[in-house]
Amino acid sequence: MILLRRLIALIALLLAPAAMAQETAPLTATSPNGQIRLSVGTTGEGRAYYRVERGGQPVISDSRLGFLFTNSFAFDRGLAIASHTTSSSDNRWELPWGERRHMRDHHNELAVTLRQNPLTGSALIPAAREVIVRFRIFDDGVGFRYEFPGAWGTVRIQDELTEFTVARPGNAWWTIGGDWNRYEQLYQATAIDAVSTAHTPITMRLDNGTHLSFHEAALVDYAGMWLRRTEGQRFRATLSPAGNSIARVTRAAPFPTPWRTIRITGNAAGLVESDLELHLNEPNALGDVSWVQPFKYIGIWWDMHLDNWTWGTGPRHGATTENTRRYIDFAAQHGFRGVLVEGWNIGWDGHWFGTGDAFSYTQPTPDFDLAGLAAYGRQRGVRLIGHHETGANIFDYERQLDDAMALYGRLGIDSVKPGYVADAGGSLQMEWHDGQVMSRHHLRVVQAAARNRVMVNPHEPIKDTGLRRTYPNWVSREGARGAEYDAWGSPGNGVDHVPTLIYTRMLAGPMDYTPGVLSLQGRGGRPLDSTLARQLAYYLTIYSPIQMAADTIENLARYPRELAFIAQVPADWQQSRLIGGEIGEFAVFARQDRASADWYLGGVTNGEARPFTATLDFLDPNRRYVATIYRDGPDADYRRDTRHSIVIEERRVRGGDRLDLPMAPGGGFAVRLRALR
Ligand code: NOJ
Ligand code: CA
Repeated sequence: MILLRRLIALIALLLAPAAMAQETAPLTATSPNGQIRLSVGTTGEGRAYYRVERGGQPVISDSRLGFLFTNSFAFDRGLAIASHTTSSSDNRWELPWGERRHMRDHHNELAVTLRQNPLTGSALIPAAREVIVRFRIFDDGVGFRYEFPGAWGTVRIQDELTEFTVARPGNAWWTIGGDWNRYEQLYQATAIDAVSTAHTPITMRLDNGTHLSFHEAALVDYAGMWLRRTEGQRFRATLSPAGNSIARVTRAAPFPTPWRTIRITGNAAGLVESDLELHLNEPNALGDVSWVQPFKYIGIWWDMHLDNWTWGTGPRHGATTENTRRYIDFAAQHGFRGVLVEGWNIGWDGHWFGTGDAFSYTQPTPDFDLAGLAAYGRQRGVRLIGHHETGANIFDYERQLDDAMALYGRLGIDSVKPGYVADAGGSLQMEWHDGQVMSRHHLRVVQAAARNRVMVNPHEPIKDTGLRRTYPNWVSREGARGAEYDAWGSPGNGVDHVPTLIYTRMLAGPMDYTPGVLSLQGRGGRPLDSTLARQLAYYLTIYSPIQMAADTIENLARYPRELAFIAQVPADWQQSRLIGGEIGEFAVFARQDRASADWYLGGVTNGEARPFTATLDFLDPNRRYVATIYRDGPDADYRRDTRHSIVIEERRVRGGDRLDLPMAPGGGFAVRLRALR
């Protein structure tokens, strides 16, 4: 019956296209500097499309807009632009912490109202329906979202019809979307027309040198977007499924969708330095966030990943009062603010991939004195970092959430690492990691934490879409393969991973990669694909306002000079620039400390040895600086037992000087440029 009705409606549409809609000349809008031009229009049969050019060259060719619903007829044809508005904005704002402090949101806006007229003789579209598509055009890309007015009532979205048709051939760096193991996949580098279904951000470089990143901003109460290649270079938005409904999104109108974003730049640095998604998020909703402070931490952690200790109780239990005291003492001695303790609560034992319903988020194991240790730490200037492994059972977690956050708030445990280990999948108990239910869940956690002045750093999270602007206590997250894979992954992360991550996952926002494995050893002593200098470089190339020194304290103590660097390096920047790099090959950052006049340089390479000469033209020309350089020794090589070979040297420099910073295979460097008075 439904099929028959749909068929009749379809025939009506085909027979009377002129009555439904007519082709209109597209509306256009450009970026403030005129380089990027967006056009939006409708075809003769009333399909809505948009396209984008940069410097007069097509970047996105005609790509559809629209929706499929489970409770009403598709919003895909019979569409016409009923009205439109334009506006411009040049707004400056500040990030309370981050890669840079001063932000400039400069864009032009074009909002079109797409109207679908009633379908004569059919009950399927009894009245006209409208959706607003709001485009914002920046000098470094485009964002657009759909807005459903209140007249829609309850909207059940089966999927989006939004397309992204890439206009020129090129290469793509991406991870597979919607597969097992969530976002924790190795990156693939392929031709654009060889991508299957990808998570965002997905990065592309076209044959004319244009760099693109497709992602989304402000993913709130909506399903995350994957990109599915349908033919050639045409991609279609695919929403992450819901565990318990055919509709992937169910919402009461009025509501906006997340912004669909395309960063469009002439080089890799432009891509990395763009703040497009942050501009498209709402301002800080938490008020005074002076309690959100970047910090560095150590933890009862790597020993579990090495399988020396266990998360569960027993003879090798890691989270004991005694071990934690030792970690607190070490943190106090070396200047780390935080100590993460995993496996502290009852319910873990033997339930790694269980149902998560045995976890308590308030009751410690008998050998772990939670309150006593929190107090012991505070007396020494050290905060415990909370841990909530949920096994992805968010329902049980949410039942305990307020109590759990209140407990941490009371004890002065002002940051927490929730975890969502479980294979991807939807079922009554397990939602997809980026479905609508999960998007709601993560905000609930962040808001419950904020009420107790707690910062949040989820692992196996939903992707970052810039919500840290609205909720600055959402300080970091995992959301890609981190250092843990170097302990036990098969394969490990390899040397291409980080130089790819910087141009892909890291475009979304901070990552708790957990660097600082100075022993360069994983489980069973297996060597990491890294030199020692590269571990230091990670603090400058993989941004997070909270940074771990991941190795065991016994191992960290063996490298006092490198440990001192990690303890000292800032995690909060006045500004950050990519001064050299190519996707998947290498990346060099210059960052200025937010709390001083010091600058830092950090670089990583892939498996290739690489000379790099940094021109210090970013330094204040009126100052002198002492450069402390940590670089690969002449014989350093990640494939050999010389991977620990490092040169640590000091030089006096000034603005405009050049520093030679050669990188070994699998290597990198870190430099502190301390400003002299
Ligand atoms: C996976 C996380 O990424 C890791 O950091 C953590 O130790 C385990 N889950 C246990 O929660
Ligand atoms: Ca993980």
